[in-house]
Order: sequence, then C-alpha cells, then structure tokens
Amino acid sequence: MKRKLVVGNWKMNGDLVGNQALFEQLVGRMQSGAECALCVPFPYLAQGRCALVDSGIALGAQNLSEFDEGAYTGEVSARMLREFGCRFVIVGHSERRTLLGEDDDAVARKCKAALRGGLVPIVCVGESLAEREAGSAETVLRRQLDALAAVLDGASLARLVVAYEPLWAIGTGRTASADQIQAMLGFIRGWLSARVADAQAVRILYGGSVKADGARALFSLPESDGALVGGASLIAGQFLEICEAAAAATQGVAGDFKGS
Ligand code: PGA
Repeated sequence: MKRKLVVGNWKMNGDLVGNQALFEQLVGRMQSGAECALCVPFPYLAQGRCALVDSGIALGAQNLSEFDEGAYTGEVSARMLREFGCRFVIVGHSERRTLLGEDDDAVARKCKAALRGGLVPIVCVGESLAEREAGSAETVLRRQLDALAAVLDGASLARLVVAYEPLWAIGTGRTASADQIQAMLGFIRGWLSARVADAQAVRILYGGSVKADGARALFSLPESDGALVGGASLIAGQFLEICEAAAAATQGVAGDFKGS
C-alpha cells in the first residue's frame, strides 16, 4: 500500500534554538506508519540533518536552482541539497510563483534539475481565488502541469510528488471543501494517467490551512495521498497529530471530512 506523505513547509521561519526544540519534540514523539518530511530554510539544513538522523523523518528544502553549478550567485544546486541530506525539495510553491516571479517553465526546469540531482520534487500547482471564481481552476492546473510534460518524459513525471495548493487556502485558515479537493486531485490523477504508466503510484498531496483537526478526514478522501503543511508544521503537537492521522489512514482507518 502507498504510504501517506506529510511534508512540513517551514517557509522563512525558525532560529537555531527554536528549531532544536521543535526537532527534538518531533523526533521524540514521532510514530512510524506514515512518511514525514520537514522542508526547512537553507541555513538550517545542516542542523536538520544532524537532528533528524535515524529518526525516520526525512529532510527537504523549499527551492533549488535549475542549474547544476557555476556562476549563479545566490543559487543552491540539487547536488548541494543532497550533500546536506535532503531527500525532497518543494518546487514552484505559489509564494515563489506570485512573489518571486517563477513561471511555469522555470518550475518545470527546476523539477528536472531536482530529478537529475537525485531529489524528489514536490511540485506545487493551484489556482487563485479569481481563477476559481472565473471557473478556470482546471485550466490553470492543466497549464501548470503541461509545462512539466514539456520537459519531463513519463518516467520522470512518475517520480514527482504533486501538491495541489489552492492559493486562497494557503495561510488563510480557509480549507477547500472535500468536494473541491477531491475534484482537483482527481483532475491531477487523470492528467497523470494519460502520461504515466502507473499514475496511481504517484503521490498527490493537498495543501492549504491543513490542521490536525480534519487531517484524518482529508486523508480518507480517495486520491488523497498526504498533505503539505505550512503553519501547523511549526507546532509540534499539530504536526505530530497530522502525521498520526496519516499513519492511521495508511492502515485504513477513515474519518469524517470537516472542511469549511
Ligand atoms: P498553510 O501553508 O498550511 O500555512 O496554509 C501551506 C503551504 O503554503 O504549503
């Protein structure tokens, strides 16, 4: 059975002392069953690597360069991330797309660089509120996904993790409804099915105001293979509960959906 995946995205938060406390609480109380990862800011990768060793919690980064090496001031390559113990890297988060000018093609090239460097890209796709209200949510996702297929063959697409994160649900406390999530995860699965030999094996996550309350129900939705968690990943109790819900769902224990 596919194990649910819970990925914490710390964004630009943390400091050495606070991180250490959070790592220790998570490592001390994490139960096995789900697969969990923490994507921390670049300067804290070394700290994370030491703190998470043999913990069963994987390490990840939040961005990488599309280039492998050279004169790219300020950039960080896939190889460097691997050297610091990263297994995952978030690519194309909506904050990078909207605030830092990353377009669909750059996101696709970064996914390619991540795969080339032995990392698992967690590629984020999602529509804005205006796009949803205009009825174009699927069109936006198709455009974002098609850009990936322009540079990645089916075998490469099969190695991605895809995270559906509607922009209007990120950091807003407003979770998409079960029907909305299910429809979009299903759309992504359908898109993959046309291009990947075993589309069911690709993990599709939901992200956007995921909290402990409601996580169990989220993981019980068909097509839901886990979560990308922002704010709640900074609170040990919240993140642990989400991981426990994922472990329970992996073992086949369902819940009731409590979206807004
Ligand atoms: P949030 O962030 O859980 O704080 O809404 C999710 C994300 O941006 O990945």
